[in-house]
Amino acid sequence: MTHSKILGTGGYLPEKVLTNHDLEAMVETSDAWIQERTGIRKRHIVSDTESTCDLAEQAARCALDMAGCRPEEIDLIIIATTTPDQIFPSTASILQQRLRIHNACPVFDIQAVCTGFVYALGIADQFIRNGSVKRALVIGAESFSRIIDWTDRGTCVLFGDGAGAVVLGASDEQGIIATHLHADGRYRTLLHVPGGPGKAPADHDAWDHHVHMKGNEVFKWAVNTLGKIAEETLEANGFAKSDLDWLIPHQANVRIIQATARKLKLPMERVVVTVQDHGNTSAASVPLALDVAVRDGRIQPGQLLLMEAFGGGFTWGSALVRF
Ligand code: ACO
Repeated sequence: MTHSKILGTGGYLPEKVLTNHDLEAMVETSDAWIQERTGIRKRHIVSDTESTCDLAEQAARCALDMAGCRPEEIDLIIIATTTPDQIFPSTASILQQRLRIHNACPVFDIQAVCTGFVYALGIADQFIRNGSVKRALVIGAESFSRIIDWTDRGTCVLFGDGAGAVVLGASDEQGIIATHLHADGRYRTLLHVPGGPGKAPADHDAWDHHVHMKGNEVFKWAVNTLGKIAEETLEANGFAKSDLDWLIPHQANVRIIQATARKLKLPMERVVVTVQDHGNTSAASVPLALDVAVRDGRIQPGQLLLMEAFGGGFTWGSALVRF
């Protein structure tokens, strides 16, 4: 039976850093409030000349390098993003051309906001298991700062930009053990960008391209759901909580991460946390955290990892992985 396995990881953060102190000069907030309520100290922000595809390309090249894989060996590209460079073609098409992958392989973007990378990993895993793809580039990339209302202190302190990538390859060994993907559109207005190109222009919010969020409600829902999906995933695949080597959660808020770890009875030493330095990078947050912990040597081959995320939609999902 064919499995898919992570062969390499990569990450990229734009150079420009925005600290909590920088934000103090922009909105009525304080470093103490942001750190206490979210755990965030700083985030990286794209410059005026950078785009989501630029970030994706850097992360992809790092992942390809670690995997020892040439771009032309890739036969599927999926980019999870909420902030594509263009309405069309997909950011994956732009990247395919940049990487000079001229083998006519399928490429597309997917949109599940912060759960996007977990969704993309689940989709790529299916392509590899059914034998139609041997090597996939799976990326989460965001320039979330471009859809933030920088006068709204309730959202502008939370988000950052970046990209994370993995090369997934066909293998006889088990790698991606299972992915569990969910959504419930009833909650879509708790966290959303109201405008979009397909909306009737007469809708009063058709041109509103900023993130709106009911933070408190999202918080409660996230804590509840992330604990449940972690337990659901371990149980459904015959693992105990104590089997887990690393939890790699979506990096939205350190209090949400701590609450999930408590539910799993997992010490924080076994949870990868990057939110203090990255903020919430949406679809990039999980693969960026994975890459950090792989490169600093915490995550070792053979270990059991649980990645999990939640986001607008609402969407939520998990991936249980033997690294
Ligand atoms: N600085 C100072 N005060 C602030 C700030 C700020 N940046 N933002 C809000 N406040 C104020 C509020 O106005 C409120 O004041 P009031 O009591 O006078 O009305 C007070 O702080 C408390 O506000 P709450 O919203 O109750 O604060 P809370 O402790 O819930 O923290 C936060 C807010 C950090 C947004 C939290 O609710 C949260 O993290 N929610 C989840 C958000 C999230 O994860 N979103 C991403 C989902 S993933 C995706 O798909 C993008």
